[in-house]
Amino acid sequence: MLQWNAMYESGVQEVDEQHKKLFEMVNAFDKSIRDQTAEKTINETLDFLGNYVQTHFKHEEKCMAEMRCPVAEKNVHAHNAFLQTYTEFVQRFKSEGFSDVLAKELHKTAEAWLVKHICGIDVHLKFCVKKGANA
Ligand SMILES: [Fe+2]
Repeated sequence: MLQWNAMYESGVQEVDEQHKKLFEMVNAFDKSIRDQTAEKTINETLDFLGNYVQTHFKHEEKCMAEMRCPVAEKNVHAHNAFLQTYTEFVQRFKSEGFSDVLAKELHKTAEAWLVKHICGIDVHLKFCVKKGANA
């Protein structure tokens, strides 16, 4: 279960709000797997999560580009790699059908990726915000 704390802060309020929303979505997916309701809602979940992630990525990439963040390009590559992984999961749900194992695998992948990505790349925004403010 993902729980927001200060180490995830990017220094950009809108980005943080979107990350919090992603945490909520990933946690809700986890809960639906445990409540055994995920099978019924899997298509909506995949669409909703996929759309939200793409909108968020675009927004964050724009922020980093505008602030000339040194990790901007790395961020775009990481986002594209995640979208590729996500698309592969969507295709597997289509071809294999729903299974608890696959749902748990997606949940685990999304959760681990978010933590690693936010802490490793997105938090660099903090330093760019400060630089921008002094410029
Ligand atoms: Fe990012």
